Amino acid sequence: MTDDPLIEAAVAVRANAYAPYSRFHVGAALRSADGRIFAGCNTENAAYPEGICAEGGAISAMIAAGQRRITDIVISGGGEKACAPCGGCRQKIREFGAPDLRVRMVGATGQVLLVRTLAELLPDAFGPDDLA
Ligand code: THU
Repeated sequence: MTDDPLIEAAVAVRANAYAPYSRFHVGAALRSADGRIFAGCNTENAAYPEGICAEGGAISAMIAAGQRRITDIVISGGGEKACAPCGGCRQKIREFGAPDLRVRMVGATGQVLLVRTLAELLPDAFGPDDLA
């Protein structure tokens, strides 16, 4: 598939997505500052607004493990068009990622579809520094 473990993690976790309502399966994997990989998949709910995005799951796993900084992130969707993070997830990523963070969006087999920096995805972002 690919020799990039972060891409492989995003593709692999996507297989576990729970998305019976949208049928839109998403996987996300991030690398934290200590080099570890954390992954998450979207987890929908019959009460629709309670669903959780893949990126949020990966971030929660990182925080639960005591890490605070994202150094790389990959999002895997299933279509030919890149699954770009939703607006809320862009803000969540900003909390733990620098503006120059690379955000890679890949397909179901790990093919790279789009690469953006976080600043490109969320320009003029409000972030932790604004409250310092
Ligand atoms: N979804 C994600 O997991 N991440 C995104 O950034 C885009 C959307 C999920 C949420 C929902 O379960 C499904 O995709 C359709 O919106």
